[in-house]
Amino acid sequence: MSYVAKAPAKIILVGEHAVVYGIPAIAVPVNTMSACARARHTPGTLTLSAADIGRTIVFGEQATDEATRQLSQLLTHIIERLGISDPRGEIDVSSSIPFSSGLGSSAAISTAILRAIAGLHDRHLAVDELNDIVFETETIFHGTPSGIDNTVVVYQSPVYFMKNRSIEKLAIRDEFHFLIADSGRPASTRDAVEHVRKLYQADRRATAEIFEDIRRIVDSAKSCLQSGHACRLGRLMVENHRLLQHLQVSSARIDALVEASLAARALGAKMSGGGMGGNMIALVNGPNHGDVKTALIKAGAVQVRHFVLRQCQESL
Ligand code: PMV
Repeated sequence: MSYVAKAPAKIILVGEHAVVYGIPAIAVPVNTMSACARARHTPGTLTLSAADIGRTIVFGEQATDEATRQLSQLLTHIIERLGISDPRGEIDVSSSIPFSSGLGSSAAISTAILRAIAGLHDRHLAVDELNDIVFETETIFHGTPSGIDNTVVVYQSPVYFMKNRSIEKLAIRDEFHFLIADSGRPASTRDAVEHVRKLYQADRRATAEIFEDIRRIVDSAKSCLQSGHACRLGRLMVENHRLLQHLQVSSARIDALVEASLAARALGAKMSGGGMGGNMIALVNGPNHGDVKTALIKAGAVQVRHFVLRQCQESL
């Protein structure tokens, strides 16, 4: 018997970083990129092969470098959490989500591996339990995650997310067209979160004011998504980007991509995710986004993906 488990990428539309401090944020799954784990029964021990990074991990063996150490920790945590006493089988994991680029690759990889291991060992996982365990594994990669990445990836739904609150799925009215542009510079979410923490510690009042401005943006963005107001959503994205610049988590490359897309008449644009590199998003006017795409490539984007956020009903 073999199992195939997939999990999507995600983008944060508004609210990253402030979300770590209890402010809401909105994220949506991006199904056109995904992590995939293929598992099969084999006698003996449990092995995990990650061809994308050229590593194979044998459960219980000593790690040889940082990438292997993180994946070993991930396997150990999953096995312990599922209470599996005789871990076995072979898992091949691969992902079309760029690493360290603000698109939720670690949450997607953990979700796919966790589902595959649960399947191999006949362990039924309720979605809430899956979400809890993926959150725990996110601490291996990011230190102190808010929980937004695992939530949107595991529930595979647009979410209005607040730390330590029950999940709120978001209804979307009409379609919203985005371009997701890769700056070609991976960046560490852990470092970006740490940078904001230092700012917060240095000047709590000023930083908290920025977070409150972001809260207002997120709540207005929620109404835009629920009522189909793309133009207003675009303006809010730009406002959010300016505040993230104040928090110093954008980068010169990302800023250049944001300005280029706005000059080409995108409705809005901003960095997305941890920042300091990675991907930015531009909200465009329907499927005729050619000018914005051309402008992004001219401004240095190494890849531009078109993503349609489709109308959906909230189901919780
Ligand atoms: O860079 P990503 O895709 O892991 O997104 C991080 C989002 C932050 O708000 C910066 C951190 C968090 O844990 O919410």
